[in-house]
Amino acid sequence: MTEIVISTPGGPDVLHPRVVDVPHPRRGEVLVRVEAAGVNRPDVIQRMGRYPMPPGAHPTPGLEVAGEVVGFGDDTNGFALGEKVCGLTNGGGYAEYCVLPVGQTLPRPPGVDAIHAAAIPETFFTVWANLFRIGRASKGQRVLVHGGTSGIGTTALMLCREFGIQAFATAGSERKCAAIRKLGAEAINYHEQNFALAIQEKTEGHGVDVILDIIGGSYFERNVAALARDGRLVVIGFLGGTVVEQVDLQALVLKRACVTGSTMRARSTAEKAEIAADLRLHVWPVFAAGRCLPIVDQVFPLSRAADAHRAMEAGEHIGKIVLKV
Ligand SMILES: NC(=O)c1ccc[n+]([C@@H]2O[C@H](COP(=O)([O-])OP(=O)(O)OC[C@H]3O[C@@H](n4cnc5c(N)ncnc54)[C@H](OP(=O)(O)O)[C@@H]3O)[C@@H](O)[C@H]2O)c1
Repeated sequence: MTEIVISTPGGPDVLHPRVVDVPHPRRGEVLVRVEAAGVNRPDVIQRMGRYPMPPGAHPTPGLEVAGEVVGFGDDTNGFALGEKVCGLTNGGGYAEYCVLPVGQTLPRPPGVDAIHAAAIPETFFTVWANLFRIGRASKGQRVLVHGGTSGIGTTALMLCREFGIQAFATAGSERKCAAIRKLGAEAINYHEQNFALAIQEKTEGHGVDVILDIIGGSYFERNVAALARDGRLVVIGFLGGTVVEQVDLQALVLKRACVTGSTMRARSTAEKAEIAADLRLHVWPVFAAGRCLPIVDQVFPLSRAADAHRAMEAGEHIGKIVLKV
């Protein structure tokens, strides 16, 4: 089969096709003939050599796929040969075949094509784990999502609308702010406004209950200022750096604020399976009703993975970028 490998850390040109054996599923794994694979910012960070890979992770990029089950490891149940599925990989998604732990594999929602199904797992697992499980966002609360038009952001905003949560989101252009408003959230253009002040104004001084933050260091102080009492700041990305120069602990203490975060990749198979079970229970029925389906901005053939990465780095996309295999 053909897969796309990172020949050496660097720019998009380091992504190269390579012919390798089809992988063998082990106990607890299914083998999937990949029809489409999602592209995520962590793939770009990995390609640059800046992603701390958990031990045992597959070095080939690709965190999510959709396709057809064509094999099983010993004693592995749950799916039939030929069944259409999508799932969260442990790497290796940029390929014609990929093995998936069965607990990270989900049936493809009815009526959803491979391109859209491949765009589901990484952001829905991540948003579910961080906004709903760790951040405890719930009906009637207020949430701020940074990078509202990112793959992560669009997923978070759709789920907020679905579950009765008032969402605010930041973005860097009027075009992206318009997309945020279409998703039912209030947009804040961070080039024009201090988002912490905007949140205080829009919530009449209350602040937001949860912040889902992909920016990190450079936003820390303003994030704390935007939180409501008992608010939760959940950091899942560092596009603005990992280091905070100065922290006013008093601001945190007075708000009884909680600062936390997580990465999906480092979680155990059992933890990912728990998140998959939650998604199947709470989100799969929503997909079946035709709502909250991922927004796919651009599709590239697998052989043009480098162009897909260029598009992601250009940062003009709204929603997801997907490779068709
Ligand atoms: N912790 C986890 O488990 C986990 C899992 C998946 C993803 N993530 C993280 O979530 C973030 C979003 O991932 P994604 O795949 O949704 O990304 P994406 O679709 O490429 O979106 C990233 C968006 O962030 C905004 N941005 C702000 N500052 C930026 C900067 N310095 N460089 C690039 N973009 C910047 C851009 O929108 P504007 O034009 O509006 O600024 C951009 O469109 C990434 O940091 C990723 O590492 C974390």
